[in-house]
Amino acid sequence: MSDRDDEDGGRVIHEVDGIQEYDNKLPNWWLYTLYGTIVFAVLYWFLYHQTKFGDLPRAEYQNEMDRFAEEEARRSGPITAEKLILASKDPAKVAQGKEIFQASCVACHRADGGGSVGPNLTDEFWLHGGGPEAIFKTVADGFAAKGMPAWRPQLGIVRVQSVTAYVLTMKNTHAPGGKAPQGERESFTTRD
Ligand code: HEC
Repeated sequence: MSDRDDEDGGRVIHEVDGIQEYDNKLPNWWLYTLYGTIVFAVLYWFLYHQTKFGDLPRAEYQNEMDRFAEEEARRSGPITAEKLILASKDPAKVAQGKEIFQASCVACHRADGGGSVGPNLTDEFWLHGGGPEAIFKTVADGFAAKGMPAWRPQLGIVRVQSVTAYVLTMKNTHAPGGKAPQGERESFTTRD
């Protein structure tokens, strides 16, 4: 109980049941780190929240995504039916589209496109149009209220084109045991 010497220069300020609390000087590296974080916080608050010198992370992320989408759209040029049909005849594009389909679409449209939650993509009946541009638009923008997600934000325009190309190859293949037709019948005009 009487052990109150302070070998490390500390001073005992509190003692309960032989457990002693010392009042030690904080190490300088610790103090300067603390001061540094305070200065950083004030500067950050001032520059980012007051003067709007820079964008906050969420806005910065959004800007970057917008820039990326613009750049991608510029590089790929306008989406035309011809371009999508051409892609549906390009084995590399179709293979890439198939991969995307397996990863993102089979849960609702089945591996062979026969449909489950989502409609059959292998018949000639379409809810939103079976032309290349119509399919591209459905996949890109989705029909969220009907359970079809918008894929452009997640996949980007180039991969939406590839998966559209793959969907075009499934058209009218009539997967066995596919879901009953939904929507309007389309004539066989859009593949060639
Ligand atoms: C969460 C389930 C779900 C996923 C995942 C999904 N879809 Fe769909 N999809 C649907 C539903 C539901 C519809 C029907 C929407 C409606 O009734 O308007 C649909 C509709 C479509 C249509 C229009 C069919 C028509 O008859 O006009 C196409 C094309 C399509 N999806 C392609 C895709 C592709 C390609 C992917 C993957 C990138 C995908 N879908 C992923 C649920 C899904």
